[in-house]
Amino acid sequence: MPLPVPALPEGVDPAWLPPAAFRAVGGRRTLIRGSGPLVETVHGEVAEACRRFGGRVVREARPDGATYDLVLGLGADDLGDEGFSCARADGTTTVTASGGRGLLYGLFHVVRLGEAAFTGGWARQTHRPALDLRMLDHWDNVAVHPVMGQVERGYAGGSLFWADGRARGDLERVRAYGRLLAACGINAVAVNNVNVHETEAHLLTDRIHEVAAIADVLRPYGVATHLSVSFAAPVVLGGLPTADPLDEAVRDWWGEATRRVYEAIPDFGGYVVKADSEGQPGPFAYGRSHAEGANMLAAALEPFGGTVHWRAFVYNHRQDWRDRTTDRARAAYDHFVPLDGEFAANAVLQVKHGPMDFQVREPVSPLIGAMPRTRLAVEVQATQEYTGQQRHVCWLGPMWSEVLRFRHEPEASVGERARGGLVAVSNAGDDPFWTGHPLAQANLYTFGRLAWRPDADPCEVLDEWIGLTFPEAPERLSDGLHAALDGSWRTYEKYTAPLGVGWMVQPGHHYGPSVDGYEYSPWGTYHFADRDGIGVDRSVASGTGYAGQYAKPWAELYESPDTCPDELLLFFHHVSYGHTLHSGKAVIQHIYDTHFEGVAEVEEARRVWAGLADLVEPGRHARVAERYEEQLRSAREWRDQINSYFFRKSGVPDERGRRIY
Ligand code: GCU
Repeated sequence: MPLPVPALPEGVDPAWLPPAAFRAVGGRRTLIRGSGPLVETVHGEVAEACRRFGGRVVREARPDGATYDLVLGLGADDLGDEGFSCARADGTTTVTASGGRGLLYGLFHVVRLGEAAFTGGWARQTHRPALDLRMLDHWDNVAVHPVMGQVERGYAGGSLFWADGRARGDLERVRAYGRLLAACGINAVAVNNVNVHETEAHLLTDRIHEVAAIADVLRPYGVATHLSVSFAAPVVLGGLPTADPLDEAVRDWWGEATRRVYEAIPDFGGYVVKADSEGQPGPFAYGRSHAEGANMLAAALEPFGGTVHWRAFVYNHRQDWRDRTTDRARAAYDHFVPLDGEFAANAVLQVKHGPMDFQVREPVSPLIGAMPRTRLAVEVQATQEYTGQQRHVCWLGPMWSEVLRFRHEPEASVGERARGGLVAVSNAGDDPFWTGHPLAQANLYTFGRLAWRPDADPCEVLDEWIGLTFPEAPERLSDGLHAALDGSWRTYEKYTAPLGVGWMVQPGHHYGPSVDGYEYSPWGTYHFADRDGIGVDRSVASGTGYAGQYAKPWAELYESPDTCPDELLLFFHHVSYGHTLHSGKAVIQHIYDTHFEGVAEVEEARRVWAGLADLVEPGRHARVAERYEEQLRSAREWRDQINSYFFRKSGVPDERGRRIY
C-alpha cells in the first residue's frame, strides 16, 4: 500500500516540500519497481504528485511494452543502502537504487532537478552520501524544565515530539518532519536532550513505548531514532548502588535495558551520552576513563548493531577566573587524545566543531585531527544559540563548509575525518514555520545537504533550498533571498564579538551583548580586555599552549600574531589595540569599522526584504520583516555597546569620527 503523504496541520508551512515542488514529477507516467516499506513511501509521494498535477503511477510494467517518463526501481546495482544512480535516455528518466532509502533519496533528487530531470538525455550518474550518519540531536525535554523550558536552546516554539510531559499523541507532524529530513538527506534523530533529567531518563526503560511510537513514524522516511541516556541510569532507574562501568551488575543492567529497547524498536540507532560534562554524571566518579565508559555502552549495543555517540564536551565549568593556567579550549584534546585507539568499533566520539562552544567564529577543534584511530562525529549547532537565536538571519552554510573543508594535515579534510558522521543540534520545533525565523529553514536544509556531501558548495545548496521552497519564484525573489542569506553569517560576526574572541553575550540565555558578562565567571570564557589590549594568549611560547595542539603548519601559523589569520587573532593572542592586522588596520579601528558595517548590512538586508513584499505570502513576509526589526535593534545595541566599551577602555577615538557613546 502506498504510504500517504503526511497531512500538514492547518497553517503549518510545507518548508522545502511545497506541493508545487513536485510539479515536474507529477505530470508523468511513472513506473515503480520493487517492494518494501520505503518503496511504499516513494509510491505515496509520486501518487500524490500525480493527484495534483496529472500523470499516473504503476507498479508493474505493462506487458504491451508501454513506455514511461520516469522509472524508479530497486535494482541489482551495488550502491549501498543509501546510494542511487540516475540516467535519461529515449525519453525515460531512470532512477535505480539497491535499497529503499536510496530510492527515496533518488526521488527527491528528481524533485530537486524539476523539469531538468525530464529534459534531453544524460549519462548515468551515481550519488552516494559521503557520511553514513547524518544526524540531528534534539535538545528537547519531555517535561518543561524550569530554566531551559521545553526545548533547551530552542527558538522555534515547543518540541515536535513532546508536550505535556509525554510523547505527543498525534504524530502526523513528526511524520512530516521525517519527510523533510529525508528530502535533505538526514537519516538519524536523537529525540531528547543530552542533559537527561529524571523524567527523560525514564524513556530508556518504562517509557520506551513513547520513543517507539516516534520511531514508527520516522522509519518510513529512512530516519533512525536515537536516545540520549544518563550515565547514572543504573542508579537512577535500576536502583543499583553504582554506575561503575566495570561493575558486572552495571554491565548486565545496561545489557538487559538495551535488549528491551531493541524489542520495542528493532532498528534503534543507539545512545547519545553527555558524561562528566556540565554536571552530568560520568565515569570519572568511579575513577574510570571515558573509553571505559563509552565501551560499556558500546558492548550493550553491539549485539543489535547500535552505536554509542559519546560527546567530547568535557571541561571544567567551575574554573576560577583568576587561574590563568587552565584553558577551556584545551580540555577536549587533553582529555581524549590519550584515549585514541581505545574506543570500541561502535563507539563514536562526538566532537563540537570548535574547541569552545559554537561561537560565531572559532578555530576548528584540534581534536578532530588528532585521533586517527577513533571514529569521530563532528557536531555543529543549527539552533542559533550564539548566532542570533532565530531572531537574526544567520545562514551558517559558509561556516560549516569552512569547518568541513579544513585540513589539519594535507591528507584529510574534516569532512573526511568525520567517519562517525555529522551531527547538528536541531533548530526545529512546533512553530508553524518549523524554525521560528522562516529563513532559518535554510540552515536545517543546508546541514542535511552538507552532511551528504561535505565538499558541496554551500552557495549552490542555498540556491537549491530557494528553488525548492519558492518553486515559482521570479528572479527578483530568488536574488533577494540569496542576497539576504548569503553573507548573513559574516554580517553577524561583524556586529558581535570581534576577531574570534567570542563570548560577549548576556550570561544564561546568550542573547544580546554583555562584554564582561562572562569575564569573571567560572565558565572559562574570558577576553582579558584591559586599557592596553585584548585577547587570550594561547601560544606555546607565552600562553596556555593551545596552539601547540595542532599539527604543522597550523601550530606554527597560530603561534605567532604575525601569521595568525585576522579572524582568529584574539582567540590565539593578546594584542594591543594598536596592533596592525593583515588587513592593514589597527585592531581598535577594525572593531569600530566592522561594527558600523555590520549594522549597515542589516539595514540593507531589511531594505531588500521590504522590497519583496509583493512576491512573498503576507504571513511569511510579515514574520521575517518583524524579525528584521528586532535584528536591527539588537545589532545597533551590539555596535554601540562594543564600540563604547573599547573606546572607553582604550581611549582611542574612531579615525572616522563616528558617534561612539
Ligand atoms: C552549551 C549550551 C548548553 C548545552 C551544552 C552542550 O553549553 O549552552 O545548553 O547543554 O552546550 O552542548 O551540552
